[in-house]
Amino acid sequence: MRKPIITVLGSLNMDLVTVTERVPTQGETLTGQSFSTFPGGKGANQAVAAARLGADVFMVGKVGNDTFGKQLKELLRKEGIQEGKVEITEGKETGIASITISGNDNRIIVVPGANHEVTPEWVMRHEAQIKESDLLLLQLEIPIESVMKAAEIAHQHKIPIVLNPAPYQKLSLRLIEMVSFLTPNEGEFKQLLSESGTEEEQELLAAKSIITKGEEGVEYLEDRQKITIPAFPVQAVDTTGAGDTFNGAFAVSYAKTKHVKESLTYANLAAGLSVTKMGAQTGMPNAGEMDAAMRKAEGQRD
Ligand code: RIB
Repeated sequence: MRKPIITVLGSLNMDLVTVTERVPTQGETLTGQSFSTFPGGKGANQAVAAARLGADVFMVGKVGNDTFGKQLKELLRKEGIQEGKVEITEGKETGIASITISGNDNRIIVVPGANHEVTPEWVMRHEAQIKESDLLLLQLEIPIESVMKAAEIAHQHKIPIVLNPAPYQKLSLRLIEMVSFLTPNEGEFKQLLSESGTEEEQELLAAKSIITKGEEGVEYLEDRQKITIPAFPVQAVDTTGAGDTFNGAFAVSYAKTKHVKESLTYANLAAGLSVTKMGAQTGMPNAGEMDAAMRKAEGQRD
């Protein structure tokens, strides 16, 4: 069977991660426990998750002409991702995320840098790539007009679209109409609902949403019935990137099977495995690790 082709249009960041026992109060200086840099950005994370699970992944985005940008491109290449459409832009630095981890909690500040240079006009240059894909994966760390343009292109060519509406932004009705699936977390879903105008809009939103609820699993509607798929129980070390792993894994499985429930179970398992190591991408499983975990889970059920 040929590998599914997944195009990810979105962000690439270098994650600057500090681990601390507690977060400082205003004006306070604390001594932290450790500092590391990890490749990140919701777009790149989802691309890595999908590539490790066997998709042929094309990443489209922008980095700065700096050390982080070159490192991020190189790391994508090592993951087997086609990174030729990640452009090095002059005059803007590579996006970064300043992440503080304390206990089971993370706090993230993103500085978009080159990610915000992804314009609708530039996205249009990648129409041929989007058209050749089995699925387009989008998030909201690039300008919303560019997300809209990519969705228009995919919709026109009947390519399924998964939109991870993170970090939260208001979505137009047209964008919601064009996407096949939205994957908000609980907070994002509540915000989307509260900002959607009519009852009709709310129904459409609910029908297209797969709501990720952390340890409570995922929830979605099938024939207007609420279905919950439980999370895979694990000892979490760092939850950064769990949502991205979920999206990447769901995209691969759905592109292959077109089966929603099966793909959500698969994505839940991948997201569970991903939180057992530090860094957004470090714990993302490959196909062999997924098979082993599935066999183990089945053995425990028997
Ligand atoms: O979803 C996790 C990601 O969000 C991090 O890798 C960070 O870069 C931010 O974009």
